[in-house]
Amino acid sequence: MTLPFSVGMSLSCQENDNSVPAPDDEEPQTIEYLKEGPYPMGAALNMNALRNKEIYRNTVIREFSSITAENAMKMGSISRGRGQYFWDDADYLVNFAQEHGIRVHGHALIWYKQSSTAMPDWVKNFQGTKEDWKLIMKEYITDVMTRYKGKINSWDVVNEAIKDDGTFRTAEECIWTRNIGAPEYIDWAFQCAHEADPDALLFYNDYGHEYSAAKRAAVNHLVEGMLERGIPIHGVGLQVHTHVNRPVSDIRTAIITAAQTGLKVHVSELDVAVNKDSKADIVYTDELKQQQYDRYKTAAKAMSDLPKEQQHGITMWGVGDQDSFMYKNPDWPLPFDVNYKRKRAYEGLVDGFY
Ligand code: G3I
Repeated sequence: MTLPFSVGMSLSCQENDNSVPAPDDEEPQTIEYLKEGPYPMGAALNMNALRNKEIYRNTVIREFSSITAENAMKMGSISRGRGQYFWDDADYLVNFAQEHGIRVHGHALIWYKQSSTAMPDWVKNFQGTKEDWKLIMKEYITDVMTRYKGKINSWDVVNEAIKDDGTFRTAEECIWTRNIGAPEYIDWAFQCAHEADPDALLFYNDYGHEYSAAKRAAVNHLVEGMLERGIPIHGVGLQVHTHVNRPVSDIRTAIITAAQTGLKVHVSELDVAVNKDSKADIVYTDELKQQQYDRYKTAAKAMSDLPKEQQHGITMWGVGDQDSFMYKNPDWPLPFDVNYKRKRAYEGLVDGFY
C-alpha cells in the first residue's frame, strides 16, 4: 500500500468501491493519515505500550486525533480508597495527548462491572445509605473530573447500564442500581459530572446497538427521558465490538438510530472480530479481511453521513492486532497488523470517509 490515499480511489479498493464520489466542484480529498479524516479518529491505548513501545507511540502520534485509555481511567485503576487515587497512568496519557495536540475521551466514570480494573474493592465492600452512595459517587466523579478539567474533552459518564433486552441492569448485577436505583444513579452521575466540569461533553456509552433493537430503543428512551428531566447529556457512545458474521447494515442502523436523539454520536470502541467462536485453527484469509474492510467502511461512511455537529468520531479499541483484548482468541480485529502496518480494514475507514 502506498501513501497518500486518494479517497474512494485506492486501486486495491476499486472493485468494491461504492462510496459517493466527491461533488464536481470539490477536489478529491487526499488522506495520508486517519487523523486527516472528516471527524476525529481515535484509539484506545494501553499504557505499557504507550510508555515503552516506540512504534506504537509513533503510530498513535501519526494516525490519531483522539485517544481513550483502554483501562487507565476506569475506577478500579484510579481509585485506591475513598479519597485516595493513583494518577500516574491517567496523568501520563493526558500529558502525552497535550504534548501532541490529541483530544482525550475519558472512559469510564461509572460502570457496573466488578473486575479489578472496573471497580475497586472498597466500593464493592462499601456499606451505607442511599445518600452515602450518592456522596461517594459524587466525590469520585468530582475529584477525577476536576483534576482533568479543560484537558479531557468528553467522558463516558455511565457505561453499560442497559441489558440487551432493553431493561436496566438489576440490583443483583449492578451495585449502583442496588444502592441508588435506576435511572436515578445515571441522572445523578451526569449531574455530578456537569457540576465538576461544565465544559466537558458527557456521554452515555453502551454495546449491542448493532444487534439489539431493544437496546437501541432503550438507550434512546433513556436519553429522551434525561433530556426531559433536564439532565446534562451531550452524546451517545456506541461501542460496536462487532464481527464479520453480522450483517454490514447493522452498523449503519445503530449509528442512524443513535443520531435520532439529536445528540453527538461516538463510535467509541470499534473492532471487527473474525473469530467470534474462538476456533484455534482459524486462518485469517483474504475473504475475512475483505469482510472487515466492508464493516470498517460502513462505520466510517455512516459517521460521515451524520450532520457535522453530531460527529464525535470513531475510536478503535486498540491500535495493532496484538493490542486487542481479543488477540489471544486468536483474532485480528483492528486496522493495523502486529507490525503496525495498515491493513485492508484501514482502507475501509479511508474509503468510507467521503
Ligand atoms: O494489568 C493486570 C495484570 O497486572 C494482572 O496480572 C492480570 C491478571 O488478570 O490482569 C491485568 O489486568 C487486566 C486488564 O484488562 C489489563 O490487561 C484485567 O484483569 C482485565 O479484566 C482487563 O480487561 C479489560 C476489560 O475491559 C475490563 O476492564 C480489557 O483490557 C479492556 O479491553 C476491556 O474494555 C471494555 C471496555 O472498557 C467497555 N466495553 C467493552 C470492552 C471490552 O471488554
